[in-house]
Amino acid sequence: MLSAEKLTLSFGKTVALAGASATVHRGEVLALVGPSGSGKSTMLYCMAGLLDPDGGKVEFDGRILTKLNDDVRSDLRRREFGFVFQFAELVPELSLRENVSLPLELNGVSRREREARVDELLDRLGIAEQAGRRPAKVSGGQAQRAAVARAMAHRPRVLFADEPTGALDSQNGTLVLDALLDLAAVDETAVVLVTHDPEISARAHRVVQMRDGVATS
Ligand SMILES: Nc1ncnc2c1ncn2[C@@H]1O[C@H](COP(=O)(O)OP(=O)(O)OP(=O)(O)O)[C@@H](O)[C@H]1O
Ligand SMILES: [Mg+2]
Repeated sequence: MLSAEKLTLSFGKTVALAGASATVHRGEVLALVGPSGSGKSTMLYCMAGLLDPDGGKVEFDGRILTKLNDDVRSDLRRREFGFVFQFAELVPELSLRENVSLPLELNGVSRREREARVDELLDRLGIAEQAGRRPAKVSGGQAQRAAVARAMAHRPRVLFADEPTGALDSQNGTLVLDALLDLAAVDETAVVLVTHDPEISARAHRVVQMRDGVATS
């Protein structure tokens, strides 16, 4: 469904990607692993259309992402992709429930439909009891699960996560990974995640090892 072929990208003299390829299918969790500086984040951002590679191509659902103009691409990103980062980056003034609801509100989803979807997600992620609290009043793991719920709210076809468990202890990391695996299985979402944690990558369906900007699977 989403494939990156022979991506190259340099930042000045630094070669971040030197011909890296990776593919993820519907309902699959792909883990990008490798040492610091090996190009994992750069690869993820290129696959998500947030960074333009110098060479190679990214194809999503029959469309060459790397050839679309910026407007079309950001529209596609907003509708079809979801993002989770290492630090939950929730809106601090809003409750977890309001944070999860926000992207649906911005996409013009009706209040009734919004509430049903948000309740379902809070429940699936095991944070229904904390839903009325602000991010600062819940644990890091609960906040990160809310960030996953928010990224899932509009039913993206692909969810990208850069070190989603990097700031969590192993128990909370497991809960976040469980949520991502559940998303892949139930909604058939493709998940692309970057991780340093062998316990996390061991549970992925597909692992791509990055080294010096090159990927091997
Ligand atoms: N915006 C940028 N400007 C300049 N160099 C960059 C930029 N982004 C990444 N790089 C360089 O490209 C290489 C790959 O970086 P990248 O962030 O993809 O690595 P990573 O595998 O995600 O590392 P980490 O595990 O530390 O997050 C590194 O040498 C990095 O310093
Ligand atoms: Mg990184």
